[in-house]
Amino acid sequence: MQGAYSAREAYLQKLEESNEVSFVYFRNDNSEQSNLWLIGLKNIFSKQLPNMPREYITRLVMDRRHRSVGIVRGSGGAILGGITYRAFPEQGFGEIAFCAITATEQVKGFGTRLMNYTKEYAKSKDGLHYFLTYADNNAVGYFSKQGFTKEITMASDKWKGFIKDYDGGTLMEFVLNHHISYTDFTGMMKQQQEALDARIRKVSNSHLVNQGIKDQDQGGPQRPLPIQEIPGVKEAGWAEGLASGPDFRMTMGGQVCEATPENLQRFMALALDEICKCEDSWPFREPVDQNDVPDYYDVVKDPVDLQMMRARLESGRYYLTLDIFTADLRRMFANCRFYNAPETIYYKLADRLELKYDHLLSSCILA
Ligand code: ACO
Repeated sequence: MQGAYSAREAYLQKLEESNEVSFVYFRNDNSEQSNLWLIGLKNIFSKQLPNMPREYITRLVMDRRHRSVGIVRGSGGAILGGITYRAFPEQGFGEIAFCAITATEQVKGFGTRLMNYTKEYAKSKDGLHYFLTYADNNAVGYFSKQGFTKEITMASDKWKGFIKDYDGGTLMEFVLNHHISYTDFTGMMKQQQEALDARIRKVSNSHLVNQGIKDQDQGGPQRPLPIQEIPGVKEAGWAEGLASGPDFRMTMGGQVCEATPENLQRFMALALDEICKCEDSWPFREPVDQNDVPDYYDVVKDPVDLQMMRARLESGRYYLTLDIFTADLRRMFANCRFYNAPETIYYKLADRLELKYDHLLSSCILA
């Protein structure tokens, strides 16, 4: 599934590939193209940052120590927005002076992509390790989303005295990581995920999905299926002898007895009776009614209740081992805790009832 960030980034990457927009790095180098872009940028900053004196903007944008990254329509067209920063290469940081997108192109993801390019250029072309900026109070949210923090971790002797204090802004910092590709962050994450998946595949077969067993009336097996015939069970590490039959004894009615299939059935019937009788079991006795809880079955994909367990037990074909019976009960409690918050009565009843079953198990089943 694609998140909003990667969807917007993918869209902008497409615009770049088709040359509808490009991101350029430039400064005042006397070339005609740079001058055109610098003037375009100065005009956008003046419009979008009305509290900044025009002369001040012009002076900084044209200053040769400042670098700019601009969004350009086509490969050499009009400027749509940009960032201008002063690089302090010896101190290893840059101060973002201005950042703005033309009004008609805001909130389309350009600001994020522009910042990613600026980080990439500052890292690769200027060798910087930090960005500082005085963010306008209404732009603190944008800078936070770009990873800037109000906590300044850079040693103060590296930057104090080098940049001017502003009253109307919040000082924010971004630490540039030289191992990250800021312009292909999504691609990098995807590659990492693929590499991780490939490693997991080597040691696990959890990616293999077996077909389920068909129902009896749909051509499925007409007899209880031995565990080793269930597709995927052997591949998952099951081996004869590991779980083939009960290798424990039990006590029932004060008598020690073998855990034969009949005795296990008796134990399961007894356990189910005890649980149904218990006053804590009222929410579990019947399936959850969708009219009462409309979204229950959207959230809980594998529901189970005591009525269903009773039918399965009475069929004599479902709970062939105690593990299967216990798994159903535990799933019923887990579903309840998944759907309900810990402070609710339902959650607490699930805990209490599960404890009761644990006591029943430990008092009847002998190792
Ligand atoms: N406050 C809070 N959040 C914001 C703001 C804001 N002012 N602007 C954008 N965002 C959020 C967006 O909602 C989006 O959030 P999401 O990822 O959760 O959906 C995220 O930031 C990125 O949005 P983009 O579409 O990438 O940003 P956009 O292209 O709009 O550019 C910018 C942001 C540069 C702030 C633009 O809105 C703008 O030019 N604003 C006017 C000028 C301005 O305020 N510049 C900053 C001044 S401070 C300085 O220059 C140092």
